[in-house]
Amino acid sequence: MIYLDNAATTIHKPETVIEAVTEAMRHVGNSARGTHAGSLDAARIIFETRMKIASLFGCPDPTRVAFTCNITESLNIAINGLFSEGDHVITTMLEHNSVLRPLYRLEKERGIELSIVPADENGCICYDDFEKMIRPNTRAIVTTHISNLTGNMLDIARIGKIAHAHDLLYIVDAAQSAGNIPIDMAAMDIDVLCFTGHKGLYGPQGTGGLCVMPGVQIRPFKVGGTGVQTYLKKQPEDMPVRLEAGTMNAHGLAGLSAAVDFINETGVEEIHRHEMELMQLFYREVKEIDGVTVYGDFSGDRGAIVSINIRDYDSSEVSDCLMQDYEIATRPGAHCAPLMHEALGTTDQGAVRFSFSWFNTKDEVLDAIKAVRELSE
Ligand SMILES: Cc1ncc(COP(=O)(O)O)c(C=O)c1O
Repeated sequence: MIYLDNAATTIHKPETVIEAVTEAMRHVGNSARGTHAGSLDAARIIFETRMKIASLFGCPDPTRVAFTCNITESLNIAINGLFSEGDHVITTMLEHNSVLRPLYRLEKERGIELSIVPADENGCICYDDFEKMIRPNTRAIVTTHISNLTGNMLDIARIGKIAHAHDLLYIVDAAQSAGNIPIDMAAMDIDVLCFTGHKGLYGPQGTGGLCVMPGVQIRPFKVGGTGVQTYLKKQPEDMPVRLEAGTMNAHGLAGLSAAVDFINETGVEEIHRHEMELMQLFYREVKEIDGVTVYGDFSGDRGAIVSINIRDYDSSEVSDCLMQDYEIATRPGAHCAPLMHEALGTTDQGAVRFSFSWFNTKDEVLDAIKAVRELSE
């Protein structure tokens, strides 16, 4: 199989990640739940992973990194834990449902106000819209870094600057950029950076987290056992346990730790360069094929995603043909990005998404181009 669904999850992982998970499953205990070697090993693995993640994303304090089971949980923690009745929040049409649904829910249940920066038919936004939408009660801007449908990249440093110029919090969904685009929270004015471990970071599923700048206090989403301050009736105030109740995924985090080592050894810029090369090759060729529509803006830096349609064929039918006849894995349908499909005019047809990773090769991309050409013919 030629796997081109890396925006959903990366199937091909570094061997070191697999070995680290296996090794951890042989000996780690429950972190912060004992003084025996197994428990201490788990605590060490988790703390080392916090340090590596903090360093990768420019978070000044590793204790401000809280781990979750995926970015959906991270975004729910940030959105539910920061906004109260009467707050106004600005987001964009590029967002995944893991941003939109928590916001819609707070709009309905907690009376927050929501403004959504529109996108044009290429999935591009106008940055001036953020300033225009700011109200006296605006509390935050929440945006993705890269659209999971078009691959368009937002200038998060520019949005962060706007947010901080108006004393607003800036929360970033880095699901599609963590591991393949350099991110520096401090330099980019990001207050909360949410990430998932299983996509561009090449870690195991069931890992993710959020990096929270010092001074930003998030109300806990879940409360429970932490192994510390047991006689308190409420969740401890200190990070990271403030946001981490229950047994940690030490096995998965051992894999994430090895995954960050792999990213650092390979180089985020080198990974991005390779993925861009594959993505550009695919884009250049398929956009010339009669009957193919390509979505998104390819004029600047972006993620390694190309979404297309072939004539008016349903995207699921095309994706099925690619799998059945060519053994090429892609993702059709709506991609949990309802407003982005609205902007592109693809709500009925959906789109066939091709997404590339470090482990894809030029030959695989050439095979995918050939398959699209044959299907289109
Ligand atoms: C932009 C974006 N945000 C959030 C998510 C949710 O990721 P997870 O399922 O790991 O929580 C995805 C996954 O596709 C995504 O692409």
